[in-house]
Amino acid sequence: MASYPALALILLSSASLCLRCEAGKVLVYPVDGSHWLTMKILVEALHSRGHQITVFRSNTSWYVSETSPYYTSITVPQNEAQNIESQDAMTAFLKKCIDIHRTNSIWATLELYGNVFDLIRENQKVVAKFAASILGNKTLVKELKAEGYDVFLTDPVFPGGVVLAHYLQLPLVLNVRWIFNGDGHFAIAPSPLSYIPQLFSKYSDKMDLFQRINNLFYHAALVYMHHYVSAPPFQAVCDEYIKEGVNIMSLVQNADLWLMKVDFTFEFPRPTMPNVVYIGGFQGKPAKPLPSDLEEFVQSSGEHGVVIMTMGTLLNDLGPEVSEIIATAFASLPQKFVWRHKGKRPASLGNNTMLVNWMPQNDLLGHPKTKLFITHGGTNGIYEAIYHGVPVLGIPLIFDQFDNLVRLKVKGVGEIIEITTMEVESLTSDLKNILDPGKKYKENMVKLSQLHHDKPMKPVDTAVFWMEFVMRHKGAAHLRTESYKMPWYSYHNVDAIAVLLAILMAVLTLVWVFCRWVIQFLWSKKDSSKSKSE
Ligand SMILES: *[C@@H]1O[C@H](CO)[C@@H](O)[C@H](O)[C@H]1NC(C)=O
Ligand SMILES: *[C@@H]1O[C@H](CO)[C@@H](O)[C@H](O)[C@H]1NC(C)=O
Ligand SMILES: *[C@@H]1O[C@H](CO)[C@@H](O)[C@H](O)[C@H]1NC(C)=O
Repeated sequence: MASYPALALILLSSASLCLRCEAGKVLVYPVDGSHWLTMKILVEALHSRGHQITVFRSNTSWYVSETSPYYTSITVPQNEAQNIESQDAMTAFLKKCIDIHRTNSIWATLELYGNVFDLIRENQKVVAKFAASILGNKTLVKELKAEGYDVFLTDPVFPGGVVLAHYLQLPLVLNVRWIFNGDGHFAIAPSPLSYIPQLFSKYSDKMDLFQRINNLFYHAALVYMHHYVSAPPFQAVCDEYIKEGVNIMSLVQNADLWLMKVDFTFEFPRPTMPNVVYIGGFQGKPAKPLPSDLEEFVQSSGEHGVVIMTMGTLLNDLGPEVSEIIATAFASLPQKFVWRHKGKRPASLGNNTMLVNWMPQNDLLGHPKTKLFITHGGTNGIYEAIYHGVPVLGIPLIFDQFDNLVRLKVKGVGEIIEITTMEVESLTSDLKNILDPGKKYKENMVKLSQLHHDKPMKPVDTAVFWMEFVMRHKGAAHLRTESYKMPWYSYHNVDAIAVLLAILMAVLTLVWVFCRWVIQFLWSKKDSSKSKSE
């Protein structure tokens, strides 16, 4: 009898062995920049499971290296590099945005939108050319078809890969949070604007009437962006290479699986779909020991602990004015500060602050002495902070950063300070506030972190499981709704309601006609009986 559990175990494990996938061939079409840095983690995980991976890259790429132990690359020659996340283009762009922000008016907001749209428009043109160069190379396309890939992995924020996947007829997996017109959920799942704040709105999921009205406007701006800014270059590629004539959005909606870079410890709860798998924070990993000089500095902080500050890879110099404000505020506090700063050394820098060109961010966040993380609000950093349970002070600059930080503020694990109105006093008091254990920021963040870790499987393993699922079953069409193939009036049942209304009207009309007839009949009878009796 005692051997039954053992037998069951053997049966179970052999069943799970059968489920294991034969090593597959994965074709990866990444988006350059920080998006690739996270997707690379997925590529490495797939490689460790024995899959063969091929990655497209442009010869102008900064991040996707040509040689790697994890993948083979296909380099496509391009004359231009994408501008989003190119150091020079972005630094200039951010400076402009900050200047516009200072003049806080409705025109400034419109100008800001205009600038963001220009940046995206230029970028999409360049990125769409990349897809066109691949599709236009007959030899390459033939080689790709002959190779017999099992699955196509791409990031649809620039949807060139989606067109190529359709062309090659491969099962499509998206590694996604944003698509080219905002949050990826909006493309496939019901997204009521009454409680889902739209990108750039800076709202939470609790909106008053005024905010809900504004939320509609923020939505309209993204609809505009979709039709006039970000979709046309890719639609042109579709029109050129896909004969049957398809809409670029429908190709995205047709994806087999959405590996969504979202975790509900961070995102507001919302409706979702069966082919959406949540892997937010899949880049999270335990901290490694710090380099000895940094460890010594961190240890020297004593009971006060350390605060670390970085504004991401894009902007390492906030300009002399802002840098002086930050340095002065830091110098006035008992904590030690590690600050990633590349500009001129501020005159007011205290001896409690260490300037660095680069920092092992994850290892610092995982260090027990780290008390607070000052960040621009990119999701990579935010998920690392949640992973390690470190509260956040956000200084948002562009794109989704403000919206990301709103999610932390609402959960009581962070605060937001605007760069345009930042003063020594406001920064100091915000820092003191978050560092104060009585204010519960740390406590709340530790709770959030526990929720984030409490999962049956690590997010990266979940991602690999579902990639292999798609490979085993050559897609996951049974999880995909057909809703996107419906015209809008059918989707919202306008036609069905119209038919029902028509029937109702007809019935009411009949009843009315009948009643009139009956009444007339009765009257006439009464009249005739009256006349008879007379
Ligand atoms: C990439 O290839 C294009 C076209 O062959 C060439 O003009 C350009 O100089 C190359 N760029 C780099 C950075 O190698
Ligand atoms: C087309 O692809 C082939 C095979 O990968 C490659 O050798 C060739 O250089 C490419 N041609 C152009 C114009 O990029
Ligand atoms: C740092 O500066 C403070 C105040 O100026 C001074 O009291 C302290 O000794 C200095 N510490 C070191 C390690 O230089």
